[in-house]
Amino acid sequence: MYGWQIPPPKKPTKSKEDFARERWEKVAWLVKEGMLKSERIKRALLKVPREDFIPEPYRDYAYLEVPLPLPGVAATISCPHSYPLFYEPLGLDQGHRFLEVGLGSGYGTAVAREVVGDEGVVVAIEIDPLTFEYAKANLERAGYRDVVLIQADGGFGYPELQPYDRIAMTASCKEIPLPLLEQLAVGGRLIAPVIGASGQNLTVFHKFATGISQQFICTVLYVHLRGQYGVPGEQES
Ligand SMILES: C[S@@+](CC[C@H](N)C(=O)[O-])C[C@H]1O[C@@H](n2cnc3c(N)ncnc32)[C@H](O)[C@@H]1O
Repeated sequence: MYGWQIPPPKKPTKSKEDFARERWEKVAWLVKEGMLKSERIKRALLKVPREDFIPEPYRDYAYLEVPLPLPGVAATISCPHSYPLFYEPLGLDQGHRFLEVGLGSGYGTAVAREVVGDEGVVVAIEIDPLTFEYAKANLERAGYRDVVLIQADGGFGYPELQPYDRIAMTASCKEIPLPLLEQLAVGGRLIAPVIGASGQNLTVFHKFATGISQQFICTVLYVHLRGQYGVPGEQES
């Protein structure tokens, strides 16, 4: 169903200290591999306990480079390197108004909240009601009450708080939903896995007063966008 190998569910055995060590090692590895450069993103990844956003049967795998299942239909927490992979080319920074389409576990939302800081705004939308409730509970427990969480089809964005400086779509689409491009500020950037002829291309869209340019980052594998702007006949991935 997902297109990648999910490790077997098991009772968690790791301590807070084990996870803290793994988190440090993961961040050091991301820096060494050249995937993590921004100090703010680095500090955010060191601060947010990823294991607290993962269902118990998969918690011990928190820092493995594999997406893990969440409550809901085909919902996953993306693998750890996905967050710098998205947020670095997006240039996510202090003070940004940020929109995330595909809240999932809430982990990416918490990381973004740390990056944009108190001067910024974070809005995250999730289409699946079960996944939404799971993420909401995770974020509340972790103390992230100052994020705007919406249970709806994220293809329509959230016009009430537009324009957004940065938008991340964490589910793959054939074309970027028009409302998202409209709600992106001039000078803003949107990142999304775009389905092409031979796979998904992680692409950054830069919006200018005169139009939109595209920058290919790498090929990726993400669950498909659902809802109005989803891929017909390809809702499951
Ligand atoms: C890869 S997961 C998100 C991972 C998430 N960023 C995290 O940190 O856990 C993609 C999410 O997009 C959601 N999704 C799919 N289509 C959507 C839509 N039209 N609007 C909002 N969310 C959608 C899925 O239900 C799933 O939870």
